[in-house]
Parts: sequence; C-alpha cells; structure tokens
Amino acid sequence: MQTALETPGLLSLAAGFTDNATLPVPAVGEAFAALAAEANGAEFLQYGTNAGRPGLRAALAARVLAQDAHGAVPEPAAVAARAAQTFVTNGSQQALYLAVQTLCEPGDIVLVDRPSYFVFLELLGGLGVEARSLPVDAEGRLDAAALATSLRRMRDSGERSRLKAVYFVSWFSNPSGRTLDAVEKRTLAEALRAEDCVVPVMEDAAYRELGFDPAAAFVQPGVLGDPAWDGFPRLYTSTLTKPFATGLKVGYGMCDSDSWRAAMLHVKGHHDFGTGNFAQALLERALASGAYEAQLAVLRRTYREKRDALDAALRTGGLADLGWRWRTPEGGLYLWLEGPAALDTGGESEFCRSCLDERVLYVPGALCHGDHPPRNTVRLSYGVLAPAALAEAGARFCRAARRVAPGIA
Ligand SMILES: Cc1ncc(COP(=O)(O)O)c(C=O)c1O
Repeated sequence: MQTALETPGLLSLAAGFTDNATLPVPAVGEAFAALAAEANGAEFLQYGTNAGRPGLRAALAARVLAQDAHGAVPEPAAVAARAAQTFVTNGSQQALYLAVQTLCEPGDIVLVDRPSYFVFLELLGGLGVEARSLPVDAEGRLDAAALATSLRRMRDSGERSRLKAVYFVSWFSNPSGRTLDAVEKRTLAEALRAEDCVVPVMEDAAYRELGFDPAAAFVQPGVLGDPAWDGFPRLYTSTLTKPFATGLKVGYGMCDSDSWRAAMLHVKGHHDFGTGNFAQALLERALASGAYEAQLAVLRRTYREKRDALDAALRTGGLADLGWRWRTPEGGLYLWLEGPAALDTGGESEFCRSCLDERVLYVPGALCHGDHPPRNTVRLSYGVLAPAALAEAGARFCRAARRVAPGIA
C-alpha cells in the first residue's frame, strides 16, 4: 500500500476521505467570526465538559428526534431527555471504541453486518473481540432463519455468554452503500429477541444525512425511535465530520442505558475529558445559522455527480460484461462491487497487481467481513477525486479487470 501511494500519478479509489474542494471554508470562517464577536468572548477557547456542549447536544437531539419522526418538530421535554442521553465525541469513531471497550472482554463476540465497516472490525480485533457476520441472502438482506439457527448453535456450544453486542451501519453503508430498511431492522430485533439475545445494539448512522435525496434520513427511525428495539440497551452513533468538515472531528453517541452511558463517559474522561470545545462551538453555530444544512446540500449535489462519474466509467468500460455486478447507491461515498466468483481481489492477488500497474487503488472487500470473507469483492470510494479523475480511475479499473479476466488477452 505504501509503495502504491508513493507511485506518481496513482488514482486512489480506496480512501474514505471527503473532497477538499467541497470543504466549507467560508462557513467555518463566518462561524468563527460570529463566535469571536460574542459577549462571553473566549469561552469557546476554554476546556469544555466531558459530555460536550449543552447547546450542541440539544441541537443534535432535536435533529435526530425530528428525523425519527418524519420531520415533526419534537417537544422540548423530549429534546431535553434525549440531550441528556447524548455525548459528543472525537468523531463517532471514539464513540464506537468507548462502546466496545466498556462492553467487551477479549474473547467476546460481536455480531456485525455483512459486509461491515472495516475500521470497526479492526477496532474489535485490536481489543481481542471476535466479529461474527450476520447471515444475508443473495440480495444482501438479513437472513432471519439462518440467524436463528446460528444463535441456537451458539447457545448449544456454550458461546452465547460471550455474545455482547450487535453492530450495523444503517444508512448508505460503508462499504456496501446499502440502507437497512425498517422491516429488515425490525426482523433483526425480533430474531435476537426470539432467541433470548437482548444484547446491546450499536447503530452506526454515519451516512444518514448523506442520501442524495434529503428525505432518505427520515424514511425510517433509528433504533432509539423504533419500538422493535425497546428493551435492548441502545447506542446510536453519528457524526458531523463527513456531512460538514472531517477535520473538525466531532461525532456523537446517544445511549438510553444509563449504566452503559456512564461507563463510556467514565472512560472518555480518561481519554480526553471532553472533545475539542472550539470545534464543537463552530458546529453548534453552523447548525444554528443554517450553514450546516447549506453544506449538506452542496455535498448531496457533488457526491451524486461523483457517483455518476464513477458509475458511468465502470459501465462504459465494460465491467458488467466481464461478470462484475454492483448496485448504484443513492447516497454515501461508496460503490460495492462483486467480481466474477473465481476472482481474488486480495492485496496479494494478480488483480491487485494489475490495478497497481494501471495506477488505481481500491479496498479489497475481504477486509470488510467478520468471518468467511468472499474473495471477489471490492469497495470503491468516490469521495476524494473530482469527476474527471473518477472517470479516468474507473477506466483504469476496467482495464485492470479485463487484463485478468479469463480467456481475454
Ligand atoms: C461507517 C462509519 N462509521 C464511523 C466512522 C467514523 O467517522 P468519524 O470518526 O469521522 O465520525 C466512519 C468513517 O469513515 C464510517 O465510515
């Protein structure tokens, strides 16, 4: 990977970064000027609190409650109650880490979606926790019958006591671009409940607001607003990085279990005793002024254009004729591709070398699985490159695929 990154002219479809050209520099400047002009002056340059700025937590609570209620404005009491369950973190990555660290011991098991966010899988591995992928059908939908069978097998083998949580990325997933619909999410809750596995649930909503149609965030509630999950200890994580400015590195968790939340805050106190107050203050301001919403509109338009550019390049490059399949996502930053069954896309594979020869980089899909990783999948990100570069990267990817396709010279 390092050698590849040092290759001149390499086009990376691997990194899940945002596009520098879209970052909201003027909006951040205006938010800063407004803060600097405030009467209480330097407060935003002082340490904040461990759980985060009250105003930001209330704004986030109101936002998520409205999304869970198809846009209806929440009652002040509901906002206050949700704000009390909310804590601001150094990116949602920190919330995920705190969640696992406070729930699991080495040797424990966490059920994860299939495919799943590979940095979360690495986090589990780093803490000695085993990731086990939820079973899915050929369309990638949860297979409830297979899940029931595997939960019973866990009970019979004595593994059930090591099962500590379930994790999934609900909207425009990294890596698959898929959104779990309300029925699928409810089916998962019912299958776990039926097998007496009411374990903590972690819902990762990092891309909820990055649907190309803004209404996508409202079509189904998150786990905290979904009665199907009542009784499960629930943690909902999301972020202000990808939808606004990745460099501000502000995310959040909302947790309805008092003891779990207290444990996470206790550890957060040891990590940093509070996420950067300045970054939080800027975001609080951007949410209140409408700058955050305006930035989302920019991102939705530009990411849709970029998705189109990469998708079109793969189609005109003839990738489907080579036996590749993919769904065109309606949000987020990723295309998830399935190559011909016999193809190996791993880091040491002929296909990977062929891509490096063509100077294009991707993420091997095998990294995104808890167990039984398929060898023939790939994650491509259209986050960073401009449309013209995406078109070129897509063409290179197709040339690399053609070079290793059986029977094609
Ligand atoms: C699915 C998912 N969850 C969480 C994160 C963490 O993001 P952040 O720490 O910037 O909030 C990412 C980042 O790529 C992600 O893709």
